[in-house]
Amino acid sequence: MEMEEWNEVAWKSPSNIAVVKYWGKHGRQLPNNPSLSLTLSECYSTTHIRFRTADSLRITFFFEGNQNDSFCTRVEKFIHNILPEMPFLSTMELVIDSGNSFPHSAGIASSASSMSALALCLCSMEEAISGKALTTDDFMRKASRLSRLASGSASRSVYGGYVEWGKHLSLPQASDEYGTPIESVHAAFKNWYDAVLIVHSGKKNFSSTKGHTLMAENPYSAVRYAQADAHLGKLVEILKNGDVDAFIALCEIEALTLHAMMMTSGVGYFEMKPNSLKIMELIREFRASTGVKLAFTLDAGPNIHLLYPEESRTRVLPFIREQLSPLCQNQQWIDDKLGNGPEKIA
Ligand code: PMV
Repeated sequence: MEMEEWNEVAWKSPSNIAVVKYWGKHGRQLPNNPSLSLTLSECYSTTHIRFRTADSLRITFFFEGNQNDSFCTRVEKFIHNILPEMPFLSTMELVIDSGNSFPHSAGIASSASSMSALALCLCSMEEAISGKALTTDDFMRKASRLSRLASGSASRSVYGGYVEWGKHLSLPQASDEYGTPIESVHAAFKNWYDAVLIVHSGKKNFSSTKGHTLMAENPYSAVRYAQADAHLGKLVEILKNGDVDAFIALCEIEALTLHAMMMTSGVGYFEMKPNSLKIMELIREFRASTGVKLAFTLDAGPNIHLLYPEESRTRVLPFIREQLSPLCQNQQWIDDKLGNGPEKIA
C-alpha cells in the first residue's frame, strides 16, 4: 500500500542479561553455542519510526533528540542487510527517534534493547503497509529473527522472562534463527532482581563483534562451545526444579568463562577493572558469611550484574549501599528486575 502521508509506529524494548553466554558466531549472525538470558525491566530503549513512501530508502536517525550519524550508519547497514526479508523498505523514508531509559554513558550494552525495539517497529510497519496482521507468535518470532541480524543478543529481548536462543537437544522448539521463551520456570525463579553495578562507564577495549570473531582462533573454543551446550541443558533443568544454589554456581562460572575467552583470544585482552574483581570477591564473601542467595554475572564489559531473588532483597540492598556502590563509578548502580518483555506504544 502507498503511504503518501506520514505514519508512525513505536515500541519500548528491554535489555537482557545472559546467564549462559553467547560468544562466537558464524554465517549470518548464527551463534556457535546456545545462550539463555533474563529479560530486564528498567533498562530499555524506546524507538519511534515515522515513515512514508519515497523513491528510494532514506533514513534520518535521532538519538535522544539529536541527529546521530554514526548510529544512522549502523541502522542503514542493518536495513540494507534485511532488504531481502523486507523489500518494502527500499521505497521508504524513515525518521527514527530512539532513546534509552539508562544513561548512554553508563557503559551498559544498549544493542539488545535498541536493536530489538527497531526490529519490532519494522515488523509493525510491515503489518501497516501490507494490511496483513501476523499471529502474535509469528510476529514475535519474526521480530526476534530480525533483531538477531542486527545484534545476536537482541534476539532474546523480544520476550519477557527467561529466553533461550540457539539449537539445543533439551528444547525441541529452539532455533539458531530466533529466541524462544522458556515456559517451565519454578516459582523460585519468578521474582529476580538485577543490580547493575556501574564499575566503569567508558568504551570497552574491544567491540563484541571483534570478540566473537576472535573466538575462531581461540585454542579453547571447541571446549567452550561444548561447555556452553552442557550448561544450557543444566540451566533448563535448574529453572524447572528451582535449584537456586545450582543457578548461582552456573551463573558465576559462565561469567568467568566469558572473560577467560577474552583473555585467551588473539594476544589476550581483558575488560574487567580492579573494582570488578573486588566486587566479585565481596559478593562471594557476603554469600559465604551470610547464606544470602545472590550471584554475579558480567557482560563483555567491566560492570557487574548482581542477580538475586526477592527474598534476598532486604539483605542485598544495604550490602550494595554500604560495600558495593562505593566501588562503582560515582556510586552509580541501577535497580533492575526480571521483566515482561517489549510493549507496543499506541
Ligand atoms: O549481541 P552481541 O553481538 O553484542 O553479543 C553479546 C554477547 C554477550 O553479551 C557477551 C553475551 C550474551 O549472550 O548476551
